Amino acid sequence: MNVKEAITNRMSIRSFTKGEVSNEMILEILRAGNCAPTAGNIQPWEFIIVREHLTKKEIVNTTFLGKDEQKGIPQKWMLLAPIFIVICADVDRSYNKYGEKSLKTLIYLDCSACIENMLITIVDLNLGSCYVSGFREKELSQILKLPANVIPIGILPVGYPNGMSIKRPKIDVESKIHYEWYNKK
Ligand SMILES: Cc1cc2nc3c(=O)[nH]c(=O)nc-3n(C[C@H](O)[C@H](O)[C@H](O)COP(=O)(O)O)c2cc1C
Repeated sequence: MNVKEAITNRMSIRSFTKGEVSNEMILEILRAGNCAPTAGNIQPWEFIIVREHLTKKEIVNTTFLGKDEQKGIPQKWMLLAPIFIVICADVDRSYNKYGEKSLKTLIYLDCSACIENMLITIVDLNLGSCYVSGFREKELSQILKLPANVIPIGILPVGYPNGMSIKRPKIDVESKIHYEWYNKK
């Protein structure tokens, strides 16, 4: 699959077969993430691979659908995936160089670039995933035994797509282009 195909074929997958994901595949996904650009080449990410069903259940219990962190129901679909990759950021590494800006934006921008690289590679391996950020950060940090300077940014449940997912429509890019300044068409 070439890059253009992998980018255009990518879509959020929330339903999986029972097929396992090998350690070699996981390493390939992480290596792709690790190639991403970061402010000051800080590379703040740390990856946690979760295979144990009980740990996955605990993680899912920290997730919620919608915007209500407390009342939103857990994202149970995630349990169909054989593995979770949790992308975390070591805040200290970025903070030491950029201060408050790290917490406001930089670690999220850095880790999102990393996650998109991972998502594209997941497609290339004929696997599927979905970027999950609907979780209660403190609870998830406890389960993963994260030190105080490390925060969870996103979870990627990864597995083989079972063909039930539907491609979401995208707004026509032509309508989003501005020449020279905003709203000049
Ligand atoms: C920052 C971010 C957070 C997201 N969090 C969730 C989530 O918690 N649960 C979920 O099912 N999808 C989540 N998504 C996936 C989006 O719903 C999905 O990307 C969007 O609907 C577009 O569909 P597509 O990925 O198939 O193009 C998230 C995506 C992003 C970029």
